[in-house]
Amino acid sequence: MSASRSSASPAAEAHDATEGTVGTGAPGRDRYLVIGNPIAHSRSPEIHAAFARQTGQALSYDRLLVPATPPEAFGRAVDRFFAQGGRGLNVTLPFKEHAFAHARRHSDRARLAGAVNTLALDGDTVVGDNTDGPGLVIDLRDRLGFDLAGKSVLLLGAGGAARGVVMSLLQAGVGALVVANRTPARAERLATQFNASPALRAAALPPVGAVALSAARAADLIVNATSSGVLAGGLALPPELFEGCTLAYDCVYAARPTAFMLQARRGGASRTADGLGMLVEQAAESFLIWRGVRPATAPVYRMLRDAISAEAAGSDAAGAGDAR
Ligand code: ATR
Repeated sequence: MSASRSSASPAAEAHDATEGTVGTGAPGRDRYLVIGNPIAHSRSPEIHAAFARQTGQALSYDRLLVPATPPEAFGRAVDRFFAQGGRGLNVTLPFKEHAFAHARRHSDRARLAGAVNTLALDGDTVVGDNTDGPGLVIDLRDRLGFDLAGKSVLLLGAGGAARGVVMSLLQAGVGALVVANRTPARAERLATQFNASPALRAAALPPVGAVALSAARAADLIVNATSSGVLAGGLALPPELFEGCTLAYDCVYAARPTAFMLQARRGGASRTADGLGMLVEQAAESFLIWRGVRPATAPVYRMLRDAISAEAAGSDAAGAGDAR
């Protein structure tokens, strides 16, 4: 997932483009953008600036706020950026589906997700990819040491964020993947899309019925991909869900444990993690697509974690509450 799922405050170094400045940028540097609405919170410029320093790549990476309406505004901004020599874009809420529609070619994972967070040019062709799934899987494997092979996974949510990670979880060899959604029909539609996979099943959220409940309770890993990150009380979930859970992972991040992470700890989950690592890893995958080199992510994760904690401490001192 991309910067869209941040619940943190604005980045320290903002390079905000406007539609009129899409074509400008530091001379001699390849230009990249993150497009969204809102966009001021996006950490992507900080992350890509750190990747560029580390790998010695000359590039600039700015934010671009595009109006949510009319719907053509997104495509116009992308076309103008590429026409003016821009090299690639990240796309965040609410435009991931617009980006999918705008791309002329898609990676398999973007096609299955129906959503694009990375745009690049191949000749004149706009190519769409989705790096959220690899971002999650790599964070689980490399930072958290969680081996997905044969594991039972419960994925909460069936919206864009959940669709973006299903293929990568299946490819990582999970033994079972239950997608549970408040609106069960949406989870069923998602499962049907991947009907070649016997590992995948749909369920309601909260899980109802003996089979769904026991499948959910047997989950080694529970991933929250709902958009309910800001709900103070967390999702409506039976606490027993977390009894056998070795890791509860929230796709959003914050300076402090999220409501979902607290809920998971109360329910008995052995470990919890937020989505900051996923944010950094999906960015590294985009950087790899654009630049052909994958930066080391651990120092960038550390830098961001420290920055977010320092900002939250600052706002506490100012009486401003938490970073969300
Ligand atoms: P995103 O692109 O962030 O995934 P989305 O496509 O609107 O956003 O999907 C939001 C997801 O969060 C959905 O799975 C939604 O459930 P429904 O399909 O039933 O709407 C889920 N969601 C949002 N708020 C929720 C809540 N309070 N409890 C449970 N699920 C919630």
